[in-house]
Amino acid sequence: LCFHSSFAFGVATASFQIEGAWNVSGKGESIWDRYTHEHPERVFDHKNADVADGSYYKVKEDVQLLSQLGVNFYRFSISWPRILPDGLSNNVNEDGIRYYKELIEELRKNKITPVATMYHWDLPQSLQELGGWTNPIIADYFVDYARVLLDNFGDTVKVWLTFNEPLTFCENGYGGDDAPGGRSSGFEDYMCGHNVLRAHGMVYRMFDQKYRKITKGVMGITNVFPWIEPATTSREDQKAADAARQFMFGWYANPIFSQQGDYPQVMRKAVDANSKRQGFPRSRLPYFTAEEVEMIRGSFDFMGLNHYTTYLAAPGSGKISTKPSYQDDINAIITQKDEWPKSNSTWLRVVPWGFRRCLNWIKNAYNNPKILITENGVSFEAGLHDTKRVNYIDAYLRALHAAIYKDGCHVLGYTYWSLMDNFEWMRGYSERFGLYQVDYESQNLTRTPRLSAKYFSNVAKTGCLPDDY
Ligand code: BGC
Repeated sequence: LCFHSSFAFGVATASFQIEGAWNVSGKGESIWDRYTHEHPERVFDHKNADVADGSYYKVKEDVQLLSQLGVNFYRFSISWPRILPDGLSNNVNEDGIRYYKELIEELRKNKITPVATMYHWDLPQSLQELGGWTNPIIADYFVDYARVLLDNFGDTVKVWLTFNEPLTFCENGYGGDDAPGGRSSGFEDYMCGHNVLRAHGMVYRMFDQKYRKITKGVMGITNVFPWIEPATTSREDQKAADAARQFMFGWYANPIFSQQGDYPQVMRKAVDANSKRQGFPRSRLPYFTAEEVEMIRGSFDFMGLNHYTTYLAAPGSGKISTKPSYQDDINAIITQKDEWPKSNSTWLRVVPWGFRRCLNWIKNAYNNPKILITENGVSFEAGLHDTKRVNYIDAYLRALHAAIYKDGCHVLGYTYWSLMDNFEWMRGYSERFGLYQVDYESQNLTRTPRLSAKYFSNVAKTGCLPDDY
């Protein structure tokens, strides 16, 4: 079973999860530095990412890992506070520029295409003091940051992603327990999403007008879409599943990728109605101006897609409490089937067919956009003989193959998350997603290829899935 020769294979990481060196050579503090230091008790085993995988010191070594895998591209993220210690562009940290230039150069020497994400959750703490993503002004500061990146790396990086998973960092960060620990569900999460969408649109328009010609690059955004299957075939369950898809994926996809733009109608209606019932004089979900709808609509060259797992949906009770909540607004009961194989992450079960449905849903909803799978992966316990990971990748790649060659979905490439084990946010180092195992007990943070590295390397080099492995 082979993919077309132009189909690309890569692996991904993110700055905060691998770099370490949290306060050296002029780097500023990020919200995740602050949060893990101030609230160690909230992170599994009280861990933080002060050292992480030490990738800041291992440019050559890490690129060698990539080269051994034989991947076409490497998706990494750039740390905003490493580039702009105070978040603002009047003070550029030259060492930050040096570090990413070195990485990009090393990748190019090894014929690996750099794919850069501008924001994978490590906001400068100084901007959080202003309200972070809930303050509309942040969109302007994100544009300033993006300009610094495009001015410095635009000639060598041709594939850009503005954001990684706004759903996750807005929902978990401002509506839940991730950094910065907003815990203001149904309110600050919507403000965050609103400003992220504005910021994305503004950066895309700047890119389109000022940089595209010079850099000859492309730009997209990465959203996460777990497949949501109706719990039964009943009409109610189908309706609940559709609403849940719109609240999770449509929230960030509809304004950018749909023909009409703006938030999905089910979301607009539900949040407006619930806000009213709760006695608010205005909707908790902000409104875009007509100009903003136009600016954001169509702001993509391709769609970045992260997909890991599948859930079931059934209708919720319809009751809402006086305290706003995103969960109440969705009004669905989200579960997983016991029989679906487990991983080492509570939320992640192995359901390959969900991947194919997800891609088909996008094809139908958004006129078959070009998609780059920017993350897909699974966590298992430590160990080098990870047959379960090999089975996961193989099964998900088969589902992807069917989506492309049987269903006609327009997918350009596939990224495995992750190149190596790393700091898994609130789960510390307890959940391992790596093709390479990282030995956190060793001085060198030694990387060792797992069986899955061998498997994936064979796929990346041949473009084919082995019949037998
Ligand atoms: C995130 C990664 C994370 C992975 C596994 C994705 O949602 O982008 O940063 O490590 O999930 O939890």
